[in-house]
Amino acid sequence: MSGLLKEKYKTAFVTGASSGLGEAFTRMLLKEGIRVWGTSRDVNKLRKLKNEFGDLFTLVSLDLADAESALSVFKEAEINAGNFDLVIQNAGFGVFGAFEGLPSTEWKKQLDQMLLTTILLSHAAWSSMRKKDSGILVHVSSLATEFPLPFMSGYNIAKAGLSALSESLIFEARGSGLCMIDFRPGDYRTAFNGGMQVAALALEMRDPRLIRAWEALEKNLNEAPSALEAALDLKRALQRGKSGLIRSGGFFQARLAPLAARLLPKWLMRSLSASYFK
Ligand SMILES: NC(=O)c1ccc[n+]([C@@H]2O[C@H](COP(=O)([O-])OP(=O)(O)OC[C@H]3O[C@@H](n4cnc5c(N)ncnc54)[C@H](OP(=O)(O)O)[C@@H]3O)[C@@H](O)[C@H]2O)c1
Repeated sequence: MSGLLKEKYKTAFVTGASSGLGEAFTRMLLKEGIRVWGTSRDVNKLRKLKNEFGDLFTLVSLDLADAESALSVFKEAEINAGNFDLVIQNAGFGVFGAFEGLPSTEWKKQLDQMLLTTILLSHAAWSSMRKKDSGILVHVSSLATEFPLPFMSGYNIAKAGLSALSESLIFEARGSGLCMIDFRPGDYRTAFNGGMQVAALALEMRDPRLIRAWEALEKNLNEAPSALEAALDLKRALQRGKSGLIRSGGFFQARLAPLAARLLPKWLMRSLSASYFK
């Protein structure tokens, strides 16, 4: 299989390349010999990739919190690369807490950064791909789109919105050289939960519902597969080069639960989900 991807894709842009899934995707692409522009808010976190892969890898400083700057950073990288055959919108973070307990700034931050800024970048990438009638855009959404995570309403909204855009673009890509992949991971063992500082505040509230749900989220993530497996799923999807939805993860989350959701009534799925998250 090695080398096949490079025949299709010469250049890629990956947001959130410093850790977890984004780092695994970036490594997978670099090992295939694809030139990658990878982002972090702190480029020092990308030095290990630079040291390992040299000229194949370009460090990019990008913060979703500053939409205008993120857009111009993307455009500059695009000029620098010639164009991007592949753009992976992966950067993201979670905010944990009951809807009423979180300051509005917290969930607004999540929607502004993970949805609106990401859409802005996708708009720029898709427009360039349309001009040359080729390119693949990947949105790293989440199975939370189908099975909302407890006390993570802002995250659930942002991912559902991103998947809604993906579905629109899957439709708009029909009959063209463009391709849209809605990549929905289940739990993968990454630094994701560690990035949810708000969880600490929420736990201080000593609300037993929040504590039980947080413990279940932690347990699920700690026992989850390695990010390398998600990279393999993405690699297979890129090799196929077809638009569509890819569910990636363990058998229970990525296969059984979606099947159950098709067969069982919604009220039963909600009840199963509540007991899954304690
Ligand atoms: N792990 C899972 O189980 C899971 C499941 C479903 C979906 N996902 C999604 O997968 C994506 C990657 O998550 P992960 O699990 O790999 O978590 P992670 O290890 O915490 O990595 C998150 C990445 O996103 C970047 N990032 C976070 N906030 C950012 C911001 N405001 N601006 C720019 N970059 C930002 C981080 O870069 P810096 O901190 O270096 O800036 C980091 O590279 C996320 O979109 C997440 O929602 C993860």
